[in-house]
Formats: sequence, structure tokens, C-alpha cells
Amino acid sequence: MSAVIIDGKQIAAEVKADVAKKVEGLKAKGITPCLAVILVGDNPASVSYVTGKRKALEEAGMADKSVVLPADTSEEDVLKLIDELNKDKSVHGILVQLPLPKHIDEKKVTNAIIPEKDVDGFHPVNVGKLVTGEKGFLPCTPNGITVLLKKMGVETSGKNVVVVGRSNIVGKPMALLMIRKEFNSTVTICHTGTKNLADYTKNADILIVASGHPATVTGDMIKEGACVIDVGVNRIPDSTKKSGFRLVGDVDFEGAKEKASFITPVPGGVGPMTIAMLIYNTLESAENRIIKN
Ligand code: GUN
Repeated sequence: MSAVIIDGKQIAAEVKADVAKKVEGLKAKGITPCLAVILVGDNPASVSYVTGKRKALEEAGMADKSVVLPADTSEEDVLKLIDELNKDKSVHGILVQLPLPKHIDEKKVTNAIIPEKDVDGFHPVNVGKLVTGEKGFLPCTPNGITVLLKKMGVETSGKNVVVVGRSNIVGKPMALLMIRKEFNSTVTICHTGTKNLADYTKNADILIVASGHPATVTGDMIKEGACVIDVGVNRIPDSTKKSGFRLVGDVDFEGAKEKASFITPVPGGVGPMTIAMLIYNTLESAENRIIKN
């Protein structure tokens, strides 16, 4: 069997087109949804992600109040900027691109963004709402994965979902979403302390891999007919490329596609969905403001 390759780029384009239409409607009422992306330093991967986010904002007709700061910016100055953006009524969403330079405390910075503008869903108030099922901003990557599963018609109710990775950005929120009644899955979280990873992955109807390492999951670790979602973005040297590198996920794609029923490619799978859900959250934040006013 060869898996259906999930076209994340196409599905993200559908989400973004839907957002753009709603942005038009808001603009007619005199409101332009606005996001401020804060980038500190020039980490190449972060620069690339931020460029993608800003391009999507522009395409959706949203306003962009992004700020790029030098790598040696003090924590105090970053917090001051967040305070200004928190108070700026024209700004609906604030996102600080991670990772931050080592001298800046990431928790302090992400917690400084008011929950109403936390379109990444990283603030403890939004994390708490994710746990209890109250309405808040959902983290973009896990939320985007649920959209992929829905659009591809992948059954989740009663299925075994195995999440590899326990990060606050992907693994933990992913597991919390899939146990919601809406998805109704039985969830296992595996991590670096898991013994015999394959024993778990082989039992997965839906396998979501966010380990941060190439080939964490190989074809022999996958159950025949499983749906495989690869969250990894790893740069590996490739002298045949102009950039000198190519992107691979956390799953050995060639081996996995022979076993899976559905699989996301890297690039072009989960990545575009993360950006689509970010502009979706920014739109939602602008709409929430109208309801409150
Ligand atoms: N770095 C890697 N992924 C993310 C993300 O989803 N949001 C932010 N702010 N930084 C990231």
C-alpha cells in the first residue's frame, strides 16, 4: 500500500481563503485584524518562519505591526515592547517567535502577553482553558493537525492516538485536544523516557510525531493503514541544494508511506497549517473585540 499524501499547502490555502473573506467583512465595519510578530535575533529557521507568517498576514488582508529586534536586546526592552502592544487597541494578536536568545527568559516573555492577544495559545490562561475545555486560543500546530484530520475524513473516535513528544507547543496540547469528546480518541504520549517506542507506535491508528529528530519513527514502527502526521522540521546538509540543506521531518517518509494510509510530507504538510491557524486566531481575536465592545 502507498499512502495518500496529505496536501497541507492546499488545505491551508482553503483555511486562509476563508479567513481572508471574513477579514473583508470586518474591514467593511472599520476593523482591520492586526498581528504583531516579534523576532529577536536572526536565527535562520526563525527568520524563515516569521517571513512565512508575515506573508500570510498580508495575503489575508490583515495589518502587520511586526518588530524585528537585534539579538542583544535586553529582556526588559522586549517586555516593554509587549506592554506597549498589549495596550495598543489596533493590535489584536501578539506572537514572540521562539526560541529566544539565551539571556531572555521565554516563560517571562510569553506570560507577559495578555491572554486576549495570545494568538499562539501559550499563556497559562489559554493553556488552562485548553485543559478544561473553555473557549480560548488553541495552539496553532495541534489545532492545524485536527483540521487536517477532519478535512481528510480520518476517523478519530475510539481510535488509538500516539503522540511522540511532550513539548508545550505540540505534544501536550495535541494530546489534550484529541481526548476531547469532539475527537474522542484514546491517547498515549511517548517521550525520551519511553522504553521500546515501537511497542507504542505500532499500536497507533493515528501517529503524531513531534520529537525534533529525523527518523525517530521508521516504517517498521508503523501499523499497516495508520494515519501518520509528521510535525518535524529538521535541516540536514545537502550539497545538491543551493541553500546547502534540505528539510526532513521526524518520520522516515519513504519507509512510512508504504505502511500508512495517510501521511503528511515535510515540507508541505503540517507547517502551512500552523500559519493558517495563526491568522485564523488573529481573526478570532479581532471578532472577540467586537463582541466585547
Ligand atoms: N517556534 C516554533 N514553533 C513556534 C510557534 O508555534 N510559535 C512561536 N511563537 N514560536 C515557535
